[in-house]
Formats: sequence, C-alpha cells, structure tokens
Amino acid sequence: MAEEQRGDAIETFQAAGETFPPDAATVAAANAQAEIYARAAADPVAFWAAEARERLTWRKPFTKTLEWELPFARWFDDGELNVAENCVDRHVAAGRGEKVAFHWIGEPGDRRTITYAELLVEVQRTANALKGLGVTRGDRVAIYMPMVPEVAIAMLACARIGAAHSVVFSGFPASALADRINDAEAKVLITADGGYRKGSFFELKPIADEAMKSSPSITGSIVYRRRQPGTPGETAMQQGRDHWWQDLVPQQSTDCPAEAMPAEQLLFLLYTSGTTAKPKGIMHTSAGYLLGAALTHHAVFDIKPDDVYWCAADVGWITGHTYIVYGPLANGATQVMYEGTPDTPSWDRWWSIIEELKVNILYCAPTAIRAFMRQGEEHPRKHDLSSLRLLGSVGEPINPEAWLWYRSVIGGGRTPIVDTWWQTETGSIAISPLPGVTTTKPGSATFAMPGIAADVVDASGKSVPLGGGGFLTLTQPWPSMLRGIWGDPARFKETYWSRFPGSYFAGDGARRDEEGYFWLLGRVDDVMNVSAHRISTIEVESALVDHHNVAEAAVVGKNDPLTGQAIFAFVILKKGVEATDEFAHELRGHVAKQIGAIARPKFLLFVPDLPKTRSGKIMRRLLRDIAEGRALGDVTTLADGGVVDTIRSNTGAAEE
Ligand code: WT7
Repeated sequence: MAEEQRGDAIETFQAAGETFPPDAATVAAANAQAEIYARAAADPVAFWAAEARERLTWRKPFTKTLEWELPFARWFDDGELNVAENCVDRHVAAGRGEKVAFHWIGEPGDRRTITYAELLVEVQRTANALKGLGVTRGDRVAIYMPMVPEVAIAMLACARIGAAHSVVFSGFPASALADRINDAEAKVLITADGGYRKGSFFELKPIADEAMKSSPSITGSIVYRRRQPGTPGETAMQQGRDHWWQDLVPQQSTDCPAEAMPAEQLLFLLYTSGTTAKPKGIMHTSAGYLLGAALTHHAVFDIKPDDVYWCAADVGWITGHTYIVYGPLANGATQVMYEGTPDTPSWDRWWSIIEELKVNILYCAPTAIRAFMRQGEEHPRKHDLSSLRLLGSVGEPINPEAWLWYRSVIGGGRTPIVDTWWQTETGSIAISPLPGVTTTKPGSATFAMPGIAADVVDASGKSVPLGGGGFLTLTQPWPSMLRGIWGDPARFKETYWSRFPGSYFAGDGARRDEEGYFWLLGRVDDVMNVSAHRISTIEVESALVDHHNVAEAAVVGKNDPLTGQAIFAFVILKKGVEATDEFAHELRGHVAKQIGAIARPKFLLFVPDLPKTRSGKIMRRLLRDIAEGRALGDVTTLADGGVVDTIRSNTGAAEE
C-alpha cells in the first residue's frame, strides 16, 4: 500500500471558511432530529434492532441482532423477509398503489410513468420469466442494461425469488462483462438491444453476444427492446438462448408470491476495482443492506411522502443500487429516472426536468457539478428551480468552490447540501450531515451517521487527535456492510481487515478538524477516482502491457479540475517500436476496449525507463510528482537518479 500518498492528500487540505447551520423550518420538519445520535450511541446494536423492526416488514421476526466473528458479520440472522415485498408490495397493500414510483424520461424525450401497482405487476411477471428460464434461489443473474425502468424491475424480480443480481455498468466492454459473468457463474443475462446516449443509439446486444461467447454458465438471456421506430439497425437473436423481454415477460402470470428469505440471503454482487487487476465481487445480503439503504435515505435525504426525488447516478454503480432502487423504493418514494447525459440536447436538460417535475431533492457527483459550473449559470437560470429543497453530493471529495456554487446557483442559496461519504463496500451512506441537525462546512462530509463508528488513525493504528490526519477506519460492524468478496474470503480479510486489526480500513485518507468534522482526502491505495468512478492503477497497467508493443507501464492519478483525477500513463515500448501519436491513440483505445471508456488514459507518455527502488518497485509517488509538474519528493530510495530527469525532459504532448 502506498502510504506515501497520504502526505500528498493531506497537503491539499484547505481550512474551512463559512459554515451553514440548518434553517429553522428545516430543523422543525426534518425526519432525523438530534436525538438520533444519542439514541444510536447509547447502544448501537439496540439502535439497529429498533430501526430494523420499525423500517422493514418481516415475515419472521429476528431474535438475534448481531453475530460478529471478525470480519464476518451476520445481522438479524434468524429473521426472514422479502426485499421486493418491502420495496413494492407493502406500499400497494397500504393503499399507495397509485403513487408514482418512477417518472422516467428517455434521452430522445419519450416518457413513462410507473406506479407502485404497475411495478408490482411487472416485478411478478419478470420473476416468473426468470423462473421459466430455470433461475432458482441462490442463483446469480447478470444485468447489463441502459437506464430504463426495467433495470429496477429486473433487480427486484431477482430479489423476489432469492436470486442474486450482478449489475454490470452498460459502459463496460465485452471482456469486463464476461469476466464478471464468469466469476459469478451467472445463469441468465438480462440485457437490452441498446440505449440512447448523447443524441444517438448505442448498441448493447452485440457486446453482450461477444461476452456470452466466453460465458459458458449462461443458459438464457432476456433482451429488452429499447430501439424506437425510426432508429436504424437490427438486433441478432440466438434461437433458444435469447428472448425479447417484450415477448417473454408480458405473457407471464402476474402472480408470483414473494417468498420469505433468510435475512442473510445474498441480495447482489457488485464488482469494484481494488488494488489488483481482478475486480472484486462485493457481496451484499438482504435485511442489513436494505435497512442501511432505507434508514439513510430517510434521514439524509429527509424524504417526505409528496417529494419528487432524483438520484442522477447510473444503476450500474452502488449509488444507483442503494439510492435509485433499494432505499427510495423501500421508503415508497416518487423518483425521476433519466436515461441520458446532462448535455443532450443541451446543457439545461437537468434543469428543465427539475422545473417540469418539480423535483425536491437532487443527488449527483461533484464531477457533474463542476461540469455545470464550466457551462455557466445561464443554463440553470433559464429554469424555475424553486422546488428544490435539498441537494446531495457523492463519489469524491467536493471542493468548497463547487459546494458553494451548487448551493447558491442550483439551491437558490436556500438548500442544505449533504456531502455523503460511502463506498460500494459500506452499502449505504456512512459519513454525512443530517439536514435538520448538522451545521455544514463546504467540503466536509461532517460526521459519521448514527450507528456508524468512524475514526482517523495513524500508520500504527492509533487514533489521531482532533486536528490531525491519517487513515479512515470504521471501528464497529454495521448492517449494510459488505459480507465478503465473492469466492475469495482470504482477499476479503487481507484487503479490509488486516491493515488495522479489529477495524475496517476504507482505503481513504481523512482529517478531522478541531470540531471533529471529517474531511475526506481521497484514496491512499493504488485506486484512482475518475469522475467519481473507481479505477485501479494496476488494472490500467495490465491493460497497457497486454498490448504486444508494450514492455512495461505505470499509471497514476493526476489532479484534474473536472474529473477529480485523470489517468496518467507512463509507457515503455518494446525495442524497435516507434513512439508516435498514432500509437498513443491506438494504445488508449486498447485500454478502453479492455476496461471501458472511463479507463482511457487522458495523459500518455512514452518513457525509456521508470523510477524504481533498488528492490525493483515502481515509485509511483515520483511519477505523481512528475505528472503534477511539482518538485520531486524524497529520492533517496531511487535506484537510478537519472531516470526521472530523462522522463521530465520529455513530458510534452502527453495529453489527448
Ligand atoms: C470511494 C468509493 C459511494 C458511491 C460512489 C462511489 C470516494 C465517495 C465521497 C465523498 C470524498 C468520496 C472515496 C471512497 N468517495 N464519496 N462524499 N467525499 N470521497 O463508490 O466506487 O465504491 O468508491 O469514493 O474515495 O473510498 P465507490
């Protein structure tokens, strides 16, 4: 682990300026009041038990709250429930069937409104379709879809019958999809012919086909037809394996009773990048995960029965799982789901949607906020955004400038901002303000959520006094924590639980100020954060050296004003290969093909050598210094001092 990086991050920390106490009206009406912290702190396990009884509908009540054999937790273990029933059936049973679950907007402008009653019908039909394809409890189902309501329906259909879903982001290439299908040994793939993005239709099925060629576990696929009349192209279907959603699902029975599932039934796998080339299948189970999702969505987003809520993430990431599907639906919320990108047809798309649907709560990533800042205030100014009551941020540290712009330009200077820190592994928000309780400071995620114990420790694991920085740890188990890495318990222990024995190590650096506010400082391991997406340096390096012309490669994250970090690749070519711009372009394309467009290096530099320690370890710290164009740090362990000078004299023309 690159502990050296901690220093970089902590230096970039900026002291707090103005603070924002909650206004009286928000305090009076907020779902979560100050008492929740005291109640949780007094007895965290009892707090979670009480919340689980209040927020979830159980088929069989639990009697045991927590069994904790570090690092393996079991929450509510002898209880039984059905996650889909909690997200859909119970709202319909309570007479709220006509409430809108999704206002869906396609990028070309097509619209659909789906009520909870309709959702219930579709989830049952889809669950029956899965059963018809031989899916049973405990199986895995891969989902590779654009942002259409059917993606939520597919996930809930899996949950209903006790199959675990593994959603793969629709921007990933065939190899990444195949790797994930194979690791999980998924039986069925639910996909689509394509989707609309940036003004055109992108084909998904050919990529799914390529992946299925090397995915022997797949016995059937369901393909949602998204292509609209007038969009050219045809989708090839393999007889006996592929079924159009529109043919298969509508003919199913609308009756598929939700079966009671054990609390610890595997709900889903979600693959995320770690510090090796192989992505980790993060495991989340049913009751604890759902509780974390429901409670945090209620307390942090302060959701009220008549609110219109919009989480602008893609369902392919954990944010979409927890804050589009499970949290909001468990709470019976009305949501906006938008298929496309914020710039299509023009940069005011989001603001026109907010005006039209009177959106009250918006949740997005700082990278989007910074992109909006660049486009100028005239786009939001064209629209009435006065319905907005609360704004959220997630995925990367938000710089105070973007925070203040978000609040003043989008929030009209009125709305609280919740900067929410969490991870795929934490399942739900772990550090965040509560809108009616917390006085916020721009750039700080403020305090650990009720029931979550966070600390900042030094390299020896000792808690750092207020005012100091170090490594962020979570010191007590929590219900929505990951239960493991699929098929690799040893890696689970090693990655998260070995660095600071007894605590969960998040991989982030953090600082606490004198008042105890948490300031997140970015990753301290070999993981980059590009546009709020996690990418492993080693994964990109492997993709680079996979090219037959590349001898060696090293990758670092470089600070980027728009995307947080940008990928900077240093590449040594094989003898006789010429370092041309054309080849740099080809190599970037090679990485995109292997891992996805988000991993395409923005900077790529051909170098004759890489700085290494005497034991041969690449000194990424020095490469970061070079990438940032700053003075080199300590070079005493460098084997050959001349290497960095050669690289430095050579840094032109690296950007694409
Ligand atoms: C990593 C987790 C959680 C959903 C999206 C990303 C960074 C996340 C914040 C925040 C500073 C943040 C951390 C974390 N991160 N939220 N509010 N402030 N950093 O999920 O792909 O699992 O990535 O994102 O570095 O470890 P993920």
